[in-house]
Amino acid sequence: METIIKTVNLSCKSGKRHLLKQINWEVKKGERWVIFGMNGSGKTTLLSIIAGFKAYTSGDLEVFGQHYSDKNILQLRRKIGWVSSSFFDRYLKEESALHIVLSGLSGTLGLDYNITPADVRRAKALLRELRMDGKMDRPFDTMSKGERQNVLIARALISKPEILVLDEPGTGLDVYAREHMMNTVRELAESDMTILYVTHYPEEIQPLFTKAMLLRNGRIYAQGNTVDVLTSEKISALMEEEVEVLRSEDGMLRMKMEAPSNIRKIYFGEEV
Ligand SMILES: Nc1ncnc2c1ncn2[C@@H]1O[C@H](COP(=O)(O)OP(=O)(O)O)[C@@H](O)[C@H]1O
Ligand SMILES: [Mg+2]
Repeated sequence: METIIKTVNLSCKSGKRHLLKQINWEVKKGERWVIFGMNGSGKTTLLSIIAGFKAYTSGDLEVFGQHYSDKNILQLRRKIGWVSSSFFDRYLKEESALHIVLSGLSGTLGLDYNITPADVRRAKALLRELRMDGKMDRPFDTMSKGERQNVLIARALISKPEILVLDEPGTGLDVYAREHMMNTVRELAESDMTILYVTHYPEEIQPLFTKAMLLRNGRIYAQGNTVDVLTSEKISALMEEEVEVLRSEDGMLRMKMEAPSNIRKIYFGEEV
């Protein structure tokens, strides 16, 4: 299969500090990756670079065989649906659901694009499919976490992207909204869309993710087939804690950790 994302020694520094270091990664068309790592490991940084929303400082990145440039950035961004509340929450305020979805066509946060009546119909249809009927004029900053997530998914899908990037889509959702989001991802995975899914919740890792990357301190700790990467041994080493990775019959993952032995003492205020 065709390689659609390729990084070679990709690094990103902020001042003297490395947010990402020497990332070598290749994603082929149709692959579905889960990117797993603790808070601060660099997941959002990596994916915002890939989605064309952040610059890297050294190394190389090609998406669809091209380097980002002023000329192609908007066109490339439209081919990569980027769903990240940790990114968009910073920039979106009073924009309505419909406005945000239509902004996906321009590859920016604005509407500097020739919107047609057909675009508006498609945006509304997507919002309806994502259970946002009757809420299309709601400002972003008054929406619940789950509603925001649905609007961002609709925004990503309106340009019919080839790659869908979901940055912690389950964070902050209640159990129903989360189930719904996971079903949406499952349905999208039935098309040949390439999916990159960031999470630190093992219970969101559905069997559809056949590839996995573990990130730690801005470096790739392991990558490859999920069965080889999401193992008790590798996850324990990643988290520096004894973790048992269990797979249920339906292929879902669960991680079991030992409670720290001194928790009772701390909890009951005894001397440790
Ligand atoms: N623009 C930035 N400038 C400086 N540090 C940043 C910036 N963005 C993120 N960081 C830092 O980089 C590290 C990785 O962040 P991030 O990619 O958001 O991690 P993750 O998504 O895995 O939680 C964190 O320590 C974060 O504080
Ligand atoms: Mg993040």
